[in-house]
Amino acid sequence: MENVVFIPQNAPFSSEQRLWLNGYMAGLLAGKHYAPANGAGVDQAAPTLPLLVLFGSQTGTAEKIAKKIAKESQAHGCSPRVVDSSAHATIDWKTETNLLIVTSTYGDGDMPDNAQNFWEWLQTENAKSLAHLNFSVLALGDSNYENFCAAGKKIDGRLEELGAKRLYPRTDCDVDYEARAKEWTSGVLDVFTSGQNGTATVEAETAATIKEWSKTNPFFARLITNRKLSAEGSQKETRHFEISLEGSGLKYEAGDALGVWPANCPVLVGEILERLGFSGEELVKISGGEFPLRRALSEKLDITKPGQELLQHLAKHNALLPKLLAQEAKEELKKWLWGRWVIDLLNENPGVKLSAGELIALLKPLQPRLYSISSSPKSHAGQVHLTVNIVRYESFGRRRGGLASMFLADRATVDGQIPVFIQSSHGFRLPVDGNVPVIMIGPGTGVAPFRAFLHERRASGDRGRNWLFFGEQKAASDFYYRDELEQMFSDGHLTKLCTAFSRDQAEKIYVQHRMLESAGELWSWLDTGAHFYVCGDAGRMAKDVDEALHKIIETGGGKSTEEAKAYVVKMKSEKRYQRDVY
Ligand SMILES: Cc1cc2nc3c(=O)[nH]c(=O)nc-3n(C[C@H](O)[C@H](O)[C@H](O)COP(=O)(O)OP(=O)(O)OC[C@H]3O[C@@H](n4cnc5c(N)ncnc54)[C@H](O)[C@@H]3O)c2cc1C
Ligand SMILES: NC(=O)c1ccc[n+]([C@@H]2O[C@H](COP(=O)([O-])OP(=O)(O)OC[C@H]3O[C@@H](n4cnc5c(N)ncnc54)[C@H](OP(=O)(O)O)[C@@H]3O)[C@@H](O)[C@H]2O)c1
Ligand SMILES: Cc1cc2nc3c(=O)[nH]c(=O)nc-3n(C[C@H](O)[C@H](O)[C@H](O)COP(=O)(O)O)c2cc1C
Repeated sequence: MENVVFIPQNAPFSSEQRLWLNGYMAGLLAGKHYAPANGAGVDQAAPTLPLLVLFGSQTGTAEKIAKKIAKESQAHGCSPRVVDSSAHATIDWKTETNLLIVTSTYGDGDMPDNAQNFWEWLQTENAKSLAHLNFSVLALGDSNYENFCAAGKKIDGRLEELGAKRLYPRTDCDVDYEARAKEWTSGVLDVFTSGQNGTATVEAETAATIKEWSKTNPFFARLITNRKLSAEGSQKETRHFEISLEGSGLKYEAGDALGVWPANCPVLVGEILERLGFSGEELVKISGGEFPLRRALSEKLDITKPGQELLQHLAKHNALLPKLLAQEAKEELKKWLWGRWVIDLLNENPGVKLSAGELIALLKPLQPRLYSISSSPKSHAGQVHLTVNIVRYESFGRRRGGLASMFLADRATVDGQIPVFIQSSHGFRLPVDGNVPVIMIGPGTGVAPFRAFLHERRASGDRGRNWLFFGEQKAASDFYYRDELEQMFSDGHLTKLCTAFSRDQAEKIYVQHRMLESAGELWSWLDTGAHFYVCGDAGRMAKDVDEALHKIIETGGGKSTEEAKAYVVKMKSEKRYQRDVY
């Protein structure tokens, strides 16, 4: 019996696992029973397939998917472990066999913060220890970005280069990721486990989780307050919103974000209906339901920025579009599309006729927007506060703006309801130890989670020192939460408050300039273990602040460029450097 091979050579098991499984099968045939290690309850342990699920996630979506896969994989006979990719150094790769990676992309085709060290490590000689693995990658992204799903693509390519075996093809997900993620999960689990299954349990679990409030099942929350923060003379419109979570059972922590499902402007919906000759009563099928076209255009579809499908369709009727859609004209297309909405394209192509069904197939699904929560549940129980910059501009002779920010500012009425969900951001959290000092860099609306942090630390009675860097255009009109922050400073809760008002003098002064002015003291805080947080604009500010942080570690800490780089890598891996940038 010992020589009989039950598990074929090409099955996705390591030699040790194959040996163990062969022994197990032989044991079963010989009538032996295997008890689980803890001896509990079960008299015959099923063989389980070890599965390592690694995630790279900035705002929690990939993390949530990774945990869901892990849960589902148990029903397929796997014993999964979900690991944050920033903890990759804790993994003993020799003992791993099956690796699933779920990662989003950030910045401009970059890794999410928690995957950056892992990505750097993948370039080293040590990463050759991954050559024996079976793997598959689920890449999350947003096709509005030029480098769609770049992080997942890079990791997938690198693992192949290292000699690991791709057992299931990479799947790239756009913002409406659910269907493709589900497809990948079931494909991966089928291939990796080849034959073991437990589908009934998976369906039962999915049905159970659907009852909770989530992105796909939002809670209709009451808007309590909509107040302007920016004052007379400001070039911006930044607002403070308070939303009641009463009756939802929803819980959040300081550092989390709120997802808001906006509705489109009814005037814009009316214009599209009129241009295409619809009454709005036409019934259309969308995501499993049937809705009147007017409602679909209001609540289900993005009728502002045109997507690829619409552009490709219009290119058949327009001489310029085929040239703009050519690969080499990407930049030109981007410029051409700036401020051009669906209605503009329809008006520019008056000959184009569409049926209701064709129209909805050419539009992108409406997406929720995330907002960093600016309250702490400990000081505002049952509420979430938001700090939102309202996007407004003019294009094609019309006053236009951001879908969700304008929805909140103009169309969501106090006491009216807003569909919301909590987006947990495990990667953006106060230190567990309330005595640890924190440095918070939050220009503009980036101040939002730091207001939450400060409220949270006060309510918890934390004694750690707090240092906030805030920046905006003008002190007189853009110093958000000024009274609150100055009060916290004068009563000592806020140990240091540094402001950078960029347009109060001839030359621009930004938060990173204030950081550099305090380089010595900032280093001494870091040296005593302070956590360093950044929130706000990802495009420019977060990069410049990162550069300033490196400089401060060099000058303040007397380190070389390489040493400063290594110090920052260590800060990230110890979760002492966290970012919530957008
Ligand atoms: C984790 C996270 C946290 C966030 N927290 C906050 C927060 O606390 N506060 C906050 O205000 N935002 C926050 N955001 C950003 C927020 O989610 C939205 O992206 C933002 O409010 C814009 O959304 P919108 O629907 O209003 O605009 P959209 O409808 O998405 O429109 C914005 C787009 O309009 C176009 N546009 C802008 N200006 C012009 C112009 N002058 N001419 C032509 N086109 C233009 C650009 O293409 C721009 O990308 C956060 C984002 C993330 C991911
Ligand atoms: N990527 C972009 O081009 C861009 C531009 C504007 C806004 N945004 C978006 O606007 C939102 C955040 O806007 P917000 O209204 O909260 O604030 P914000 O536009 O980030 O402005 C806050 C403050 O930061 C300053 N600032 C500009 N560039 C900076 C840099 N490189 N480093 C440090 N500070 C800098 C601004 O100065 P000045 O305004 O005087 O320069 C202002 O004083 C985000 O969604 C962001 O992505 C992006
Ligand atoms: C500031 C910012 C930058 C982003 N950059 C990209 C990008 O370059 N390419 C891409 O495909 N997706 C990009 N995305 C989209 C995210 O990858 C996508 O929303 C993903 O689902 C987020 O997953 P997470 O919550 O696990 O981080 C970006 C999102 C934000 C907010």
